[in-house]
Amino acid sequence: MPLKHKDFLGLRGVPGEEIDEILNTSELMKHILLQNHKKTPHLQGKSIVTLFYENSTRTRLSFELAGKYMSASASNVTASSSSVSKGETLIDTGKTIEMMGTDVLIIRHPLSGAPHHLAKHLKSSVINAGDGTNEHPTQALLDMFTIKSKKGRLQGVKVAIVGDILHSRVARSNIWGLNTMGAEIRVAAPPTLIPIGLDSMGVKVCRYIDQALEGADVVMALRLQKERQQRGLIPSLREYATLYGINKKRLALADKEAIVMHPGPMNRGVEINTDVADAEISEINEQVTNGVAVRMALLYLITRRRGQ
Ligand code: NCD
Repeated sequence: MPLKHKDFLGLRGVPGEEIDEILNTSELMKHILLQNHKKTPHLQGKSIVTLFYENSTRTRLSFELAGKYMSASASNVTASSSSVSKGETLIDTGKTIEMMGTDVLIIRHPLSGAPHHLAKHLKSSVINAGDGTNEHPTQALLDMFTIKSKKGRLQGVKVAIVGDILHSRVARSNIWGLNTMGAEIRVAAPPTLIPIGLDSMGVKVCRYIDQALEGADVVMALRLQKERQQRGLIPSLREYATLYGINKKRLALADKEAIVMHPGPMNRGVEINTDVADAEISEINEQVTNGVAVRMALLYLITRRRGQ
């Protein structure tokens, strides 16, 4: 089944069949990724470019490697070293990249909606690699893929999302996607880090972290986004760690087969303790590998859709 749209901008409104298609294709891609010889012709002759206006390690590199493993030409533009710093507009930069033969442009931007704006002006496919506090759909896809690989399903899986929900595009994309796939989502955070109207997104907002963790199959810790914090939302990092940090003792409340996830980068000792991050039950490293597989699947499906 081809993808519905030219672009992939968010998981809000994406039908379950489309998510299934991407996750199933990701499974095939993971086999390729784990082979000694990681080279397939799926994207031969295609060109992908990442355009990042914010820092990134794993997202940018995993798109680049995903493209390269499938024989695409893959290049990066970083805002700080491009004409963006000379005042070029987003559309002009995007158009310039498109006119060099780019099939897929992958963008990360600090403003919510920037990828949507760009997509309207380009014929190339645009993939959202994180826009402000709005969405980060490929992160949620890799999270769903990780959960499905471990739990065998998404339907009915109890997922506790803990941390800075207010600033988290990862949380938002996961909420849209996991809801569509029938998971049961609970969130816990200090009240100042819970966005208004969250309960209308089909999640259970818990006042106490213990309520969210009770019997959870998946515990997803989120990074406390210090760079997006207006001052005063939490009293201190220490208090936050004491009240909301994921540690071994807290985890005892979750299901005994529970897994722990984190999108990275982690603030060790703040939202997650080292004893948990490096434990057997932690899928944090596996998430990174799965991120490449999922991005390979998405790049393949999006270029195939275009019949290029
Ligand atoms: C996330 C992001 O940038 O939104 N990181 C990532 O892509 N793995 C989460 C974060 O920065 O906390």
